[in-house]
Amino acid sequence: MAKCLVVYASKYGSTKEVAQAIADGLGADIASAANDPDVRPYDLVVIGSPIYGGDYLEPVKDFLRANKPYLAKRKIAAFITAAAHWQRSPGLTGEEDELLFTQQEYADGLARLSGSDCVDCRGFGGRLIPQDLDDADRGMLEWFYHFLMHEPLQGFDLLDLPSAYRWGEELREVVGG
Ligand SMILES: Cc1cc2nc3c(=O)[nH]c(=O)nc-3n(C[C@H](O)[C@H](O)[C@H](O)COP(=O)(O)O)c2cc1C
Repeated sequence: MAKCLVVYASKYGSTKEVAQAIADGLGADIASAANDPDVRPYDLVVIGSPIYGGDYLEPVKDFLRANKPYLAKRKIAAFITAAAHWQRSPGLTGEEDELLFTQQEYADGLARLSGSDCVDCRGFGGRLIPQDLDDADRGMLEWFYHFLMHEPLQGFDLLDLPSAYRWGEELREVVGG
């Protein structure tokens, strides 16, 4: 049976919950990217990051840089969590539109960053609870909502853990039971 590892970064916990659901569906071990897990015992490494300011969290980028030669010899899969409703919409044009990517584009980008053969990548809805945010994040998001979304900062909970679990099961099929 293929040995699988889910590696994630998460600032406020939602990506960790998605990572755990994927690991449960896949029958995988799970590790935080910040702990720089050893990927060598694994056949498949699933890498996950939330999107912050259009980018992936630093511990995931560090993990990918540090493990490039090992990951190149393994199968990988990638997932992201993000705010689905910040994606391109008919109401957004020009500069605003260029700042926003679809969840699938972000997930594809993470797979490319790994430099490895990706068996599948997936975007999941994340979660944002304004009262939990630290001052820097709240300030940044208040600005973002005001200038780009033209509305006050709003929380959301788009977590769909059953879908994440099912994706884990699908990955298990891809890597051969
Ligand atoms: C400061 C900040 C910046 C964010 N930037 C983006 C972004 O650029 N695009 C997006 O789709 N979602 C963005 N989000 C939403 C997060 O990706 C989403 O809330 C995610 O679930 C957070 O993951 P975590 O709970 O694991 O930290 C942002 C959230 C915060 C708090």
